[in-house]
Amino acid sequence: MAKTKTAYFCRNCGIESSKWVGRCPSCGEWNTYTEEVISGKTGKPAKTGKKGSPPVLVAEITAEEQPRINTHSTELNRVLGGGIVPGSVILIGGEPGIGKSTLALQIAMQMPHTSSLYISGEESSRQIKLRADRLGHGKGKCYILCETNLESVFNQLDQLKPGLAIIDSIQTMQSDLLDSPAGSVPQIKECAAGLLRFAKESGTPVAMIGHITKEGGLAGPKVLEHIVDVVLQFEGDHNHMYRVLRASKNRFGSTSDLGLYEMRDNGLAEVSNPSEILITRHEEEMSGIAISAMVDGARPFLIEIQALVSTAAYGTPQRSSTGFDLRRLSMLLAVLEKRAGFRLSAKDVFLNVAGGLKVTDPAADLAVIGAILSSDTDIPVRQDICLAGEVGLSGEIRPVSRLDQRIAEAAKMGFKKIIISSSGRTAGKKGHGIEILRAGKVEQVFRNLFSPK
Ligand code: TYD
Ligand code: MG
Repeated sequence: MAKTKTAYFCRNCGIESSKWVGRCPSCGEWNTYTEEVISGKTGKPAKTGKKGSPPVLVAEITAEEQPRINTHSTELNRVLGGGIVPGSVILIGGEPGIGKSTLALQIAMQMPHTSSLYISGEESSRQIKLRADRLGHGKGKCYILCETNLESVFNQLDQLKPGLAIIDSIQTMQSDLLDSPAGSVPQIKECAAGLLRFAKESGTPVAMIGHITKEGGLAGPKVLEHIVDVVLQFEGDHNHMYRVLRASKNRFGSTSDLGLYEMRDNGLAEVSNPSEILITRHEEEMSGIAISAMVDGARPFLIEIQALVSTAAYGTPQRSSTGFDLRRLSMLLAVLEKRAGFRLSAKDVFLNVAGGLKVTDPAADLAVIGAILSSDTDIPVRQDICLAGEVGLSGEIRPVSRLDQRIAEAAKMGFKKIIISSSGRTAGKKGHGIEILRAGKVEQVFRNLFSPK
């Protein structure tokens, strides 16, 4: 019997070592080495003996732009930069249960002009059929294959020649070339490399679904992210129905666009006008609510920020925040206390971003402050006003990016006034039919927020 050979691999960066090490010398992460079985067969490339092609001058390469494959999903097309590029490899990551398989199957079933092969290593064909019934079969020709062996997958792909191959998930695939179990670093590397070779040689795009780790990064070695063309992240809060699809890497488009979906009983529905659903128009005015004109990636939308400020029942006041960075909230509270004289240190402050979305745009600062002050004073913020501005440590309001887009979105949604920074006067010149109020310090904001109509 052949002697089993083992080696150690870093789960983070995929580097190989002959002995175990506590700290990876390559990426510096601690305790990431695991022992994997490698057989003598490793390292043998699947196809050898090719002479290779000679180098070509870049000017001489004729690159007729190949038409992109339309996914028939406006949101996905937008994130991909206009559709799927033939021969590209896409990695879709996200937490378990967020809807990766649903998204992939839905896309596969709705493309009328492209056949697809959905390869599942996680679910049986019956389970997939149940899901497909729930989603409602589209016009597309979608084949299902329940298989985990990479070589069998290639056999089927060669015979069927689909227009798109979907692998659910890369962690369940196993190649005969290696003895190590599915999901181990060498297997993930080998399977991903094999699929990449297949995509480039055949021109068939491959979409791989990848698991993520406890920390939120894509599971498996970092090399996985390096070799694929596009990395998509599917995010959202399990308790909410909204899902955000964004590209963290895209060789054929920008990474600043994002797609919004809503998880419904019958699958994922596209959200083409996010502002409409992320803000609620209340019959009567309520305190503790402010609207922020924010931009995520390149997409402007309005979002509702809610705050509740109440007297702390215990000695240490509580600060809690959903969808907004807690440290940033503490900073804003300190600014309000120190620069504007609001005594919030003995109060509990709870902050919530509507729809379960996460806000990282600094322009939301002003709306956060507005919501907190409104709740603290119990005076509602005027319903026709929205805010866009970053707050600095000295209480100054700083200008934010893409101001014209924010103003246009606010005007489109019927807002009458928008509060922005008084510096950076060049931006926000265009009228858009909305009154632009400028403020230089946080103190100046209150007058406009609460003034009678
Ligand atoms: P799934 O695609 O299986 O997640 P992942 O592949 O990322 O692990 O999504 C499963 C969740 O989506 C599940 O909790 C149920 C929900 N869901 C709906 O709400 N509506 C639907 O039509 C479908 C198919 C799933
Ligand atoms: Mg799944």
